[in-house]
Amino acid sequence: MKINIQEKTVENIPCDILSIFVFEEDFELNLVTNTKIQGEINNFISSKNLKPFDVKVINTLGFLPSKNILLVNLGKRCVCNNDSFRKASSVCAKTARSLYCEKLAFLIHKKFFEKNVFVEVTKAIVEGVILGLYAFDNYKSADKKLKVKELILVVKSKQELLEISQSVKKAEKISLVVNYVRELVNFPSQKVTPTYLSNEAKRLLINKKIKITVLEKKELIKQGLNCLIGVSQGGFEEPKLVIIEYNNSSKKPIAFVGKGITFDSGGLNIKPYLDMMDMKSDMAGAATVLGILKLASELNMKTKIIGVLALAENMPGSNAQKQGDIVTAYNKKTVEIIHTDAEGRLVLADALSYVEKNFKPKEIIDLATLTSGCIVTFGYSAAGLLGNNNNLLEKIKISASNTFERVWELPLWDDYKDRIKSDVADVRNLGKGKGSEASTIIAGAFLEEFVEKTPWAHLDIAGTAWFVEEEFFNPKGATGFGVRLFLDFLEKN
Ligand code: BES
Ligand code: MG
Ligand code: ZN
Repeated sequence: MKINIQEKTVENIPCDILSIFVFEEDFELNLVTNTKIQGEINNFISSKNLKPFDVKVINTLGFLPSKNILLVNLGKRCVCNNDSFRKASSVCAKTARSLYCEKLAFLIHKKFFEKNVFVEVTKAIVEGVILGLYAFDNYKSADKKLKVKELILVVKSKQELLEISQSVKKAEKISLVVNYVRELVNFPSQKVTPTYLSNEAKRLLINKKIKITVLEKKELIKQGLNCLIGVSQGGFEEPKLVIIEYNNSSKKPIAFVGKGITFDSGGLNIKPYLDMMDMKSDMAGAATVLGILKLASELNMKTKIIGVLALAENMPGSNAQKQGDIVTAYNKKTVEIIHTDAEGRLVLADALSYVEKNFKPKEIIDLATLTSGCIVTFGYSAAGLLGNNNNLLEKIKISASNTFERVWELPLWDDYKDRIKSDVADVRNLGKGKGSEASTIIAGAFLEEFVEKTPWAHLDIAGTAWFVEEEFFNPKGATGFGVRLFLDFLEKN
């Protein structure tokens, strides 16, 4: 999609559809001289039962160079934030697409926004459009003719144009990376294997500041990453640990670790049909980490960053890990395998201790679709946040609220640590009892065993990475959650 910023007045915008934001407080909004069109605008604005994000399409019948006007209600000005604009613009973009409009314009004359920061609002609008129009349609034979081809941002003056041009470019880059992550997560597991993801990582090498190391199975065995090996044993695909280094310097890096189970069948403790259905998405953490590194390099950020992808399939093949097996992790702790479906924490355990020992990061953040319990707790509305360092957790919370990618902290009390003590090994991979009690926290407590002293945070993105229903700019399926959050985090730290 082409993006243009144009300096124009309302009645002089050639396009298929012109989107205009309205607020509940607006009782009149004089936009055009044509009385019929203006009358329809007034009607919409003054209607009583408008809900936020309600829209109205007005056909301008040849009276204006804009073939249609699209009014979208943003609700009360005082509660309207950047996310409202992101949502509203996605509604506009999808409406435009459904009407076969190719040229979609937004009126963003500064005076309409009052207290909302103009540059930020514009960024949110561009994100809403690009994210909202994303569709996983690679395997669809039809449907492809519905495409918005051009986005036009209409400003009032040269000054406004200059003010927003940088952030428009940035919003485009960010959104395209979010869509890239979504695509990786949406593609089926027969395509997106550990090999495929490690090749995707190698594509980042076009940036000179990137270094990639792929630890193959042989090397993983040699170095003793037995938790990762153990999980992969029942699958045809070999495991891999991919290490992406960005901006090598003597500074301490910030490390991101992603769970990359390219398919989670549950292993021998096999999942029932419906639970297994979307398990191609169990590599969303790894895809997000890849996205974060891709974006940081495209934006030429100054921070030193390490990304680690822990890649494997969790399958019930004849050599699959069995209940009661005991493996020695990379950090030499022994782990009793109680449940083969609690595999995410195993691959992360080795990845966490590997990155801590070999790269001595300033902070470690892991992202993982780790527990269905996290969906039980938060639904699809927030990622579970746990960690060993308040300062780091607070910084993540701030970036979460800046980007509206929500997180919510859960406690890591000692009680929980007691529940992963094993009778025969150092730790067990399932909490004592049924295993479903506080499963998100228990998983976090398990991970904590594999971080020695570095500030560490864990995000359980089981609910936020994959939506079962479309919601504004997030389509059904992969959301790309975390890319925007951690870009904000990296920019501020
Ligand atoms: N990948 C799943 C978690 C998951 C479930 C993510 C549903 C997204 C949607 C994970 O490997 C898993 O199977 N977790 C188990 C752990 C249990 C055995 C303690 C779970 O949460 O059910
Ligand atoms: Mg599992
Ligand atoms: Zn899993």
